[in-house]
Amino acid sequence: MTNTFPEDFLWGGAIAACQAEGAWNEGGKSLTIPDIMKYEVIDRSKPTKQKIINRETIEAARNDEDPTYYPKRRGIDFYRTYKEDIALFYEMGFSVFRLSISWARVFPNGDDAEPNEEALHYYDQVIEECLKYGIEPLVTISHFDMPIVLIDKFGGWYNRKLVDLYVNYAEVLFKRYKGKVKYWITFNEINMSIKAGPKTLGILNEGQANYEEMLFQGLHHQYVAAALSTKLAHEIDPDNQIGCMVAYFTTYAHTCAPEDVLAMQEDDQLRNLMYLDIQAKGYYSLFAKKYMRDNHIELKMEKNDLELLKTYTADFIGFSYYMSMVSSANAENLELTAANVTNVLKNPHLEASDWGWQIDPKGLRYTLNHLYDRYEKPLFILENGIGALDKLNDDGTVHDEYRIAYLAEHFKQMREAINDGVDLFGYTMWGPIDIISSGTSEMKKRYGFIYVDQDDLGNGTKKRYRKDSFYWFKDVIATNGGKL
Ligand code: BG6
Repeated sequence: MTNTFPEDFLWGGAIAACQAEGAWNEGGKSLTIPDIMKYEVIDRSKPTKQKIINRETIEAARNDEDPTYYPKRRGIDFYRTYKEDIALFYEMGFSVFRLSISWARVFPNGDDAEPNEEALHYYDQVIEECLKYGIEPLVTISHFDMPIVLIDKFGGWYNRKLVDLYVNYAEVLFKRYKGKVKYWITFNEINMSIKAGPKTLGILNEGQANYEEMLFQGLHHQYVAAALSTKLAHEIDPDNQIGCMVAYFTTYAHTCAPEDVLAMQEDDQLRNLMYLDIQAKGYYSLFAKKYMRDNHIELKMEKNDLELLKTYTADFIGFSYYMSMVSSANAENLELTAANVTNVLKNPHLEASDWGWQIDPKGLRYTLNHLYDRYEKPLFILENGIGALDKLNDDGTVHDEYRIAYLAEHFKQMREAINDGVDLFGYTMWGPIDIISSGTSEMKKRYGFIYVDQDDLGNGTKKRYRKDSFYWFKDVIATNGGKL
């Protein structure tokens, strides 16, 4: 039993280009789905409503040049502030920083013959800045950042052409950052696709009778693209480590009635494991096949697709963990609470965040053991954290003891899991600096150790302030988890 984390454990934070960079129409970048997500005042006492993304909303936003109500267009201006922000990460002692690259910056027309040098030059500088401080850059190739041009020209991931375009894009990155970036994630939270098809797959719901089949087909194309990219990454540099990623929806049976346990098993399989089985084990699971059979989903595959999936599996398993949920065979009259992208059943044993996400540190230990036992591959927690309403005081302080409590409890459970024998090699806290919320486009849903003085509509000085959790996390890293 040890009180600290493994010596070479990677501690850090994670952000996404589309929630942080801003500069939505600069440097040659073209429009993306996040750029058209309109800000709306939300009622946090009610379960989440899915945002509609269709041709109409895209067209309306495309013709609206005013960024005020499109917070992701401005992000936190990381495009220009990356030096100041990375210096703050260094001050906390980060050994890893997860960032994503914007596909629409690098290939603004989707199918350009050559990548946009201005975009690559920008990412060269961000990556060099990390390396200067001895921070390992961990890159997500595609993080909820669908270029709209790929929807207009090809209909999104339903079209197999996107496999070639993505692999070409990935190849540019692997070659450019050879020897500089070692850890890569092919797709952020690939399992969000079925619930958020337009956002992650660029497949618009236009009343097609086979819409669900189209989503599964789009996902199949992403699996193939990930497998081919993994192959290429290893050929270009055998040191490359490629991770797959899901948002893990840990779930418990509502009661010990056998039908609730079966509902839990099915939820775990269909929301989480089927995606990992394909990317980490290399095949469509029994549950995936049954689901597709029962729902008349027939995938079009090329001759060697299954062979590719089997051969080029991920080197490590990445996942995000924010909350847990409950499964029931008779859910109709049970109370709901908000969760990531979707609503879930309420668990009376758990507290929830200001946004209704159920806080469950022990569920993280359970999940780590569950995943390591099943896949026997190294694990990386790519996202974890709490979105909260922080208050900036007149003296520039932010007392976020709730964030410290949330993280401390999760870190203790990570330590337990490591002591259980789980190979967990890194942790990137979500949103180490406040950024725009992915789900609600709010700025006031803050995750950071660093407060950014900016409101939902972009007003504020944009100045950065260290919250109490900043100093606390610095101590956690300095003692390698010894002082929790
Ligand atoms: C994950 C995403 O699903 O959850 C992030 O990968 C996102 O992009 C995070 O920001 C938290 O969600 P939200 O909606 O609170 O920003």
